Amino acid sequence: MLKDLILKNRSYRRFDQSVIVPMSLLREMVEAARLSGSARNMQPLRYMLFNNASDCEKIFHTLAWAGYLKEWPGPAEGERPSAYIVQLGDLDLTDDWWCDDGIAAQSMLLTAVEQGFGGCIIGSVQREKLRSLLNLDDRYKIIQVLALGKPVEKVVIDEVKRGGDMKGGDMRGGDMKGGDIRYWRDENGVHHVPKRSLDELIIG
Ligand SMILES: Cc1cc2nc3c(=O)[nH]c(=O)nc-3n(C[C@H](O)[C@H](O)[C@H](O)COP(=O)(O)O)c2cc1C
Repeated sequence: MLKDLILKNRSYRRFDQSVIVPMSLLREMVEAARLSGSARNMQPLRYMLFNNASDCEKIFHTLAWAGYLKEWPGPAEGERPSAYIVQLGDLDLTDDWWCDDGIAAQSMLLTAVEQGFGGCIIGSVQREKLRSLLNLDDRYKIIQVLALGKPVEKVVIDEVKRGGDMKGGDMRGGDMKGGDIRYWRDENGVHHVPKRSLDELIIG
């Protein structure tokens, strides 16, 4: 069952924007983050929750979508997220949260997926723009944003195609080692996510 949930928990980037994500669910998601592990048990992460249209409209314009889908500017009006959780680090406590942010993000997304919603972690954020939009105190560092809603896209997992290293040079100037890991969208709008095989991940 957990594997089913993990499988269903894909990065969704197109939503039915008319479906509101209830504030009670956003709070439940933070509750799941609250109960998750934290380095030194410092618990320095903080959250801002948004589910109204005007806040969502503003936050949307600070985010970058699906870097590999070069022709796609991000979700169109009507398919945009209807909620966001902005994850912050409280610098008064520490400036080193190890991997708390990722653990918490996964806990939150699994909670959303279990309730029939879904989302995408957005690390590519115009942080200064978002900071001023949110009128954020210097005490808080913006870590990442969870974009949330009722998914309307189909996402499938493929195996990474081998066949030698790709010398793409299109991945932040580096070579694409070990096959093509770029996600892509087919003619039916299905989003394909190549994953490396289990045998490739386990060494020895
Ligand atoms: C830390 C992190 C940051 C990410 N940042 C972005 C982002 O800025 N924009 C985006 O569209 N997707 C972003 N993603 C989503 C990844 O592209 C996605 O996880 C990957 O393509 C694999 O797809 P999957 O989540 O369905 O397994 C991010 C994912 C993680 C874990």
